[in-house]
Amino acid sequence: MNADFKRASERVRTLRAEIGRHNYRYHVLDDPAVSDAEYDRLLRELIALESEYPALIDPHSPTQRVGAAPLPGFRAVKHSAPMLSLGNAFSAADMRAFNRRVCDRLGRAVIEYAAEVKLDGLAVSIVYEKGLLTLAATRGDGYTGEEVTHNIRTIPSVPLSLTGKDRPAYVEARGEVFMTHAGFRALNDKQRERGEKLFANPRNAAAGSLRQLDARLTAERPLSFFAYGVGAYQGEAALESHTRTLALLRQWGLPTVTESGAAKGLEPCLRYYERIAERRAELPYEIDGVVFKVNAIKQQRALGYISRAPRWAVAWKFPASEEMTQLLAIEARVGRTGALTPVARLAPVTVAGARISHATLHNLDEIRRKDIRIGDWVIIRRAGDVIPEVAAVVRARRGQVAEFNMPERCPVCGAGVLREEGEAVFRCLGGLSCPAQNIRAIIHFVSRKAMNIDGLGEKLIIQLTETGLVRTVADLYSLTAERLAALDRMGKKSAQNLITARDKSRDTTLERFIYALGIREVGEATARLLAGHFTLERLKAAAPEALEEIDNIGPVAARNIHGFFKEPHNLEIIERLLAAGIRWETERRGERDLPLLGRSFVLTGALEGMTRAEARGLLLQAGAKVSNSVSKKTDYLVYGENPGGKYARAKSLDIPLLTEAELLELLATGPRRGER
Ligand code: IVH
Repeated sequence: MNADFKRASERVRTLRAEIGRHNYRYHVLDDPAVSDAEYDRLLRELIALESEYPALIDPHSPTQRVGAAPLPGFRAVKHSAPMLSLGNAFSAADMRAFNRRVCDRLGRAVIEYAAEVKLDGLAVSIVYEKGLLTLAATRGDGYTGEEVTHNIRTIPSVPLSLTGKDRPAYVEARGEVFMTHAGFRALNDKQRERGEKLFANPRNAAAGSLRQLDARLTAERPLSFFAYGVGAYQGEAALESHTRTLALLRQWGLPTVTESGAAKGLEPCLRYYERIAERRAELPYEIDGVVFKVNAIKQQRALGYISRAPRWAVAWKFPASEEMTQLLAIEARVGRTGALTPVARLAPVTVAGARISHATLHNLDEIRRKDIRIGDWVIIRRAGDVIPEVAAVVRARRGQVAEFNMPERCPVCGAGVLREEGEAVFRCLGGLSCPAQNIRAIIHFVSRKAMNIDGLGEKLIIQLTETGLVRTVADLYSLTAERLAALDRMGKKSAQNLITARDKSRDTTLERFIYALGIREVGEATARLLAGHFTLERLKAAAPEALEEIDNIGPVAARNIHGFFKEPHNLEIIERLLAAGIRWETERRGERDLPLLGRSFVLTGALEGMTRAEARGLLLQAGAKVSNSVSKKTDYLVYGENPGGKYARAKSLDIPLLTEAELLELLATGPRRGER
């Protein structure tokens, strides 16, 4: 033998042993000894040697997991012993009854059980002859399955050859092929990217991946395997209990079902169920219950079988986390951020113990991708505490059903709905006036960088909206200390403090005010830009093109701003805020915009064409100040019907008196030169 070949052959042996050890630590012990990169380096070295010396290739080398050519069809495999199913328990009472039956039959007071999780995947049998993987098959009907050796070989956690002490001459390991949550998510992400159909759940994904005639496809799927028992067996080591069997399987390099242990008597079994049920959502894979098996094999033999299930085992199932039902309608719900979420109205079903009549459909893209239409039968999923969702459509519809479309107007406030380019989400443009968005809008409005109303926190805002005291941000300015003090958990002092803070907030800046409006995509910086370029009046009328002319304002922000000021609801709230006395320094603006800049007005009596609040708003907009009492500093008194004492006082101070018509004229033209 050539010296190079000999050296290569020795190195190949070393590498295979080393890789085998790393596989074992990683998949069976869950305790890797090297980094993924180091593992890859070893594997690459082995691949290089085997391609240089093809004579060294061995079907059980860790390099030989993939590559089998597609098969013409699946071969039927008869199981050496039938692959049975398990009897079910659904409650502690069922479990007690099971235990009683076992105790009675065996004439024992206490039985030792092996407790383990019930994986939600598919059962397979994997045969090792003289330590080498020679055959793998699905459960099929329990007696005959389909040969999937080529696919099982691609699963990284399935050893191609057994290791360790007491390796048996022949062993048929039985267990579950499944997909972890992480693997499932990664697979569906990939499917989505490629525009391919999404899998409804990890079990379907595992089943679909295993039943592939082309093993190269299976190799791309993140499948896992756990053994939970032994079928046919020929070996030295005695399998005297189930827990011992699992320990031997591990010793030989097979990963076994986790969370397993022995439980003496009924009580520990009940506790085990509770503990696993609580931890279910934390586990990295889907389980649908727990399994209890009489631990001693002798006792198992004594108990035997009834129809197709062993008398010595039981599956205590969790309430189902998936159910099928009919989709009755699709509603668009408006969240606090204005996002419209399509929600399925369902014929009620109980999923994982809860009655479900609504489930989220996420967004329009998901609806299109899953091709969900009204009237369809759908799978509703609820994993752990997660909100129920429509996972998939099961039965194809009869006849033509129109595709669902998002509404053009907000179902809550009637404002327009906008979908931003490249975004999945549709949003209500109602902003401040949309009740669904109110709370968030108010929180933003009062926040420090916006109107800065100190002491108005989320809880209080919720209370204010729930009691009807505040419907929109404009209502904040008509709150009184008395009304506030009447609220639960609100003292007189804090009510007064809040009113003081609120009053202080009236004096603000245009940029704060624009920011406070909560227009999407308009943060502080954009608000500052807008305030530097426009008066509020001009901003309200600005076309998107005019907005985009400002550096750093893009088309999305421009469309949002334009859309916001087109909504009559929003304009109305702005008017009310201005009427409530919100104002800002206006030096930066030209005289033309503010004909009454710096003038001080007092209003009295009932006006004809407008309310006093409206008149106040107009004056503030024109740059004037409006105060409640007449002093020497007052520039004008505006009077209507039945004026009060203010009229007399102004007259005595020789302050110009204006009728409503004169006020309007003044607003239109500004004060004549020379007038004070
Ligand atoms: S023992 C004779 N143990 O549940 C006993 N089965 O309903 C055979 N399964 O087809 C099964 N986890 O696919 C057993 N820890 C576990 C299991 C388990 C999941 C599945 C298996 C079987 C079905 C029986």
